[in-house]
Order: sequence, then structure tokens, then C-alpha cells
Amino acid sequence: MATPLRNRILTGDRPTGKLHLGHYVGTLENRVRLQDQYECFFIVADLHTLTTRPEKDVIREVPANIRNLVLDELSVGIDPATSHIYLQSMVPEVTVFYLLFGMLVSVPRLQRVPTLKDVMRDLEIHTPSLGLLSYPVLQAADILMVRANLVPVGKDQSSHVEVAREFVRRFNTLYGEVFPEPEALIGEVPTLVGTDGQAKMSKSLDNAIYLSDDATTVERKVMGMYTDPTRLRATDPGHVEGNPVFIYHDIFNPDKDEVEDLKRRYRLGQVGDVEVKRKLARALNAFLEPIRERRRELDQQPELVEDVLFHGTLRVRQEAQATLELVRAAMGLDYFPELRARLREGSSKFL
Ligand code: TRP
Repeated sequence: MATPLRNRILTGDRPTGKLHLGHYVGTLENRVRLQDQYECFFIVADLHTLTTRPEKDVIREVPANIRNLVLDELSVGIDPATSHIYLQSMVPEVTVFYLLFGMLVSVPRLQRVPTLKDVMRDLEIHTPSLGLLSYPVLQAADILMVRANLVPVGKDQSSHVEVAREFVRRFNTLYGEVFPEPEALIGEVPTLVGTDGQAKMSKSLDNAIYLSDDATTVERKVMGMYTDPTRLRATDPGHVEGNPVFIYHDIFNPDKDEVEDLKRRYRLGQVGDVEVKRKLARALNAFLEPIRERRRELDQQPELVEDVLFHGTLRVRQEAQATLELVRAAMGLDYFPELRARLREGSSKFL
């Protein structure tokens, strides 16, 4: 197996809306931190959105979401000069991997993937489509197509990376070593609590603070945050552990002395929620301001998003085609080489 110079990362998101603080601590932070060490591929997984929302009026929203997603990534500091941000639906090779991997996994195995049950419950889907069932197969195709070594994701995605690892073991055993076994890298905060105290920050639960929220919005959201429900007055001793306001303080407020002081006074009933929240809003806005600032600059460049996707998509297709050659050869699917060469000459760039 030809070993690439740098190990590779592949990760990314579905273009369903803006990225929020949960994405930041779950995966974006790792992407930015590791982007110089690894060759990075960041997918905009628009085909994956079809698994639950194939309706045309939803598809109509996708281009704006794609744009926002790319801008969010660039705003947090992903450097498009070294990292490849690409659009999944413009990489036809991925569908071939998806089809081939589909032969190597059983239906009951896919039915056991925990995220499938979650999605079915949340969206009230009684029988999953083939596309939804095989969501992790498509994701494995994304990851393995570039022979990625590392997949920085939020905790909810680790069962999908596990499916990709199983494909690698199965494939390499059946056909010979082609793929490295990718590892999931979960962020420092595997699951960020929502502003409402629910386990997970998410768009659909409407409990998210977005990277692109302006300062007033952040302040409003923080002032409305769920805190300690057992505490009725500022003079009641309060609970710090599991309290979302303090969880956010711990993560986003760099002034550790301030946080410790607030915690101490909170436990003693010597500080009101308002002060704790005001200080949190200030810390969050200080954290978000440089991100917003960069976004304002990027917004001035109307061609930027498409340029980034153009270069990223070209690069990933190169890699996907090279891997596909290796896969065809390993599987013995490289038959009729003259026929294939002639067809390539003729029309079909995609063979
Ligand atoms: N399923 C991921 C999500 O919803 C998005 C995704 C698609 C992805 N393909 C991927 C993530 C490959 C990591 C690797 O967040």
C-alpha cells in the first residue's frame, strides 16, 4: 500500500443549518488544532441530508446551508490553503464505494446502529428507507475513500466510525490491505449540554448558541438559560455540578479565578443568577467575537465559498479515484482493461 506523506483526517457535517458551540467543542476545535499535522478533508455531506429530508422544498434550502457551513468552518480558523473542504454530491466516486461497501454489511448490523433508532424516534419514522438505513455505509465511503486515519467527530458519531472500521477489517481480510483503520477522535467535551439543560445542544431542540449569533442574541440566550431549578432565591445555596451555566463557564471562560469565585459564592447563596449569567455572556462573546470578525471579512468575498469548494472537491476526487483503482485491483474488478480505456477515451470521465 502506498503510504501518503501525512496521515489524513476526514470529517465534516451535513448542511442543515448553522454550526453551534456544541460543534465547536465536539469537533471544530480538533479540526483547527490538527489541520497542520494531518492532511485534512472536510466534507459538506449534502447527500446525507437526503436520508431524512428528500423533499424538494428542503433541498431548496441546502445551498444557503452549504454556504453558511463553509463560512462557519473558515471563521473558526480552518485554512483552505491547506485543508480541503469539499461537496459530497460533486464526488460521484463516493457512490461506487457506497455500493461496494453495501455488499459487506448485513441489514441487522445496520439496524443496530444507535443513531438510527434515535433519528427514527425523533422524526417519527416507522420504517427507515434503504438510504437512511445505510447512512453509516455512505459515511464509511466518505471516510475510506481518502483512506483517512483519523475522524474527529462529536460523540454521537462514534458508532458510525465503528461501522467504517468494520468495513476496513472485512475488506482487508477478503481482498488484501487497502485501507488503514480509521480512529474516531472525540472532542474534549463529547456532548455539550443545551441552554435549556437538555443533554445535547442541537438545532432541532432549539437550545443552541450559534457561532454566528450576534452579541445581543448570545446575551439573550444566556440570560434565559436553565440553571439550578432547586434554587428559588439568590440567597439559597445553589448546585454547581451539572448546572449548564457553570458547565459553559468551565469550558468557555478563560478567567479561572472568576469562575472559582462564582462557584464558591453560588454554593453559599451569595451570588444571583443574573451576575453569573452576565459574566458568562461576556466570556462567550469574547470567545465568539474573533470568529464573527473573521466571518465579516469572509462575507466580503462573494466568490470565496465556491472557490474553496472547487479546489477541495477536485483534490478529493483525485484521491477517491486513486483509492478506487486500488479497490478495483484488490477485488479483481479491474477486468476488461482495454474496454475501460476505450470507454474513458470516449465519454465517461467517471470510470
Ligand atoms: N454524519 C455526520 C454528521 O451528521 C456528517 C458526516 C458525513 C461525516 N460523512 C462524514 C462525519 C464522514 C465524519 C466523517 O455530523
